[in-house]
Amino acid sequence: MNAPTRRLKPAYKLDKSTAHFQRAVRAMPLGVSSNFRYWGEGKTVYVERGGGARVWDLDGNCYIDYRLGYGPAILGHCHPEVDAAAREGQKVGTVFALGTEREVVVAEMIREMVPAAELVRFSNSGTEAVMAALRLARGATGRDNYVTFEGSYHGLFDAAMWTADMANMTDPAKGPEIVTYGKGVPQLVRQLFWQVPYNDAERLEDVLKKHGSTIAAVLIEPILGNCCGIPSKPEFLKAVRELCTKYDVLMIVDEVKTGFRVAKGGAQELYGIKADICTMAKAVANGYPIACIGGREDIMRHYGRGVAHGGTYTAQAMSLAAAERTLTILRDTTALADIAAYGKAMQEGMSRILKARGVPHSFTGHYSMSGLFFRETPPDNYRDWKTSDYTFYDHLARKLIERGVMCEPDSREPWFISAAHDDSCLAETLDVFEEAVDITLDELGREHGAKTAPLMAGISS
Ligand SMILES: Cc1ncc(COP(=O)(O)O)c(C=O)c1O
Repeated sequence: MNAPTRRLKPAYKLDKSTAHFQRAVRAMPLGVSSNFRYWGEGKTVYVERGGGARVWDLDGNCYIDYRLGYGPAILGHCHPEVDAAAREGQKVGTVFALGTEREVVVAEMIREMVPAAELVRFSNSGTEAVMAALRLARGATGRDNYVTFEGSYHGLFDAAMWTADMANMTDPAKGPEIVTYGKGVPQLVRQLFWQVPYNDAERLEDVLKKHGSTIAAVLIEPILGNCCGIPSKPEFLKAVRELCTKYDVLMIVDEVKTGFRVAKGGAQELYGIKADICTMAKAVANGYPIACIGGREDIMRHYGRGVAHGGTYTAQAMSLAAAERTLTILRDTTALADIAAYGKAMQEGMSRILKARGVPHSFTGHYSMSGLFFRETPPDNYRDWKTSDYTFYDHLARKLIERGVMCEPDSREPWFISAAHDDSCLAETLDVFEEAVDITLDELGREHGAKTAPLMAGISS
């Protein structure tokens, strides 16, 4: 394959970010406020500002942003209407340890958009909302146990920080050991839950049949937003709903990423299901910190009847005002349809480029948050993804970032689209993508050889 000559940007530098890192690391562990933001020495990026679909780093590098802060900036960074609303909201004050009129207005909008949310409470983050939902399920049922799925992410709290240890799995029939993915999580928690493979209703039923009477809730992401955007098969999600009803276990649908993104009513609208309790966060306020818990009235009324929920900053004024404006835009405009249309066009463009080079590939998830996978058939569960070869993605992602397309370097994170991504973003993205694919093939193609042959069959150089 000829060396690519077109849009190379050899000038990509992170000198200022790297200098800033040296300062930051003296004040903060890893020099960041979240472990996930540390990309290694010389690679960790610090942002100067965002605007629309783009972000600029301290070195002046401009990127088309497909991370959007892991999803929240659904209307684009610094959306003028949302930011103006937030400033207005702030004028009344921040928090009062008392309720306000606006929290009811926003709760009413959420009820209207998400039918399962008969009543609503607010939290500050996805983690907090899911914690509150699980506590509610336990309080309402009087049971302690719960079920989660391999490959899901529900935030950083003890009950959710467990994963299938595929690297050390010795007997596929027995399955992987479920291990915590961070120190400091008590092993005692392991006794409280079962983790079953995604898209496998039979395995779920096995657990519910044996242990249903001790289980408060099945906690599920309708689309694995932290595992390539692997979607539930429609029949699987319906089966989860039916099984929860059959075994009298509550279904918590974690829509922290999918809520107000994949449809106005989230994945529940897309799949035609209704949760007992659901959580929404990221897209609610275009990045301002707010999350919500919605659910069946008889369950939600347990808040205040023995189940605790609250927090100094819940429903603070600025985020509420941003939520009201964001939800209004998402509800009353074609923003979500436009986002999906962009995602579709981007996938089609990428497919054209990859097909022309004989690179097997597939996409997972929803057009608004999709994973790119280098194999003809996409994975439908975590085990499948984990045993695949994602080296090509990892290499490609770095080339894309260096050329101004900010995708997640980790292939588990989907590409997020905002309403600010426009035709010029699309053209530039595809242009850069083509070049990055060529360079990746050039660098990896041959030496990758035997290892990736089954996946990369057909690549000519
Ligand atoms: C499905 C899901 N639930 C919960 C969380 C935790 O949200 P937060 O990072 O706001 O605490 C996330 C974060 O990515 C998520 O994707």
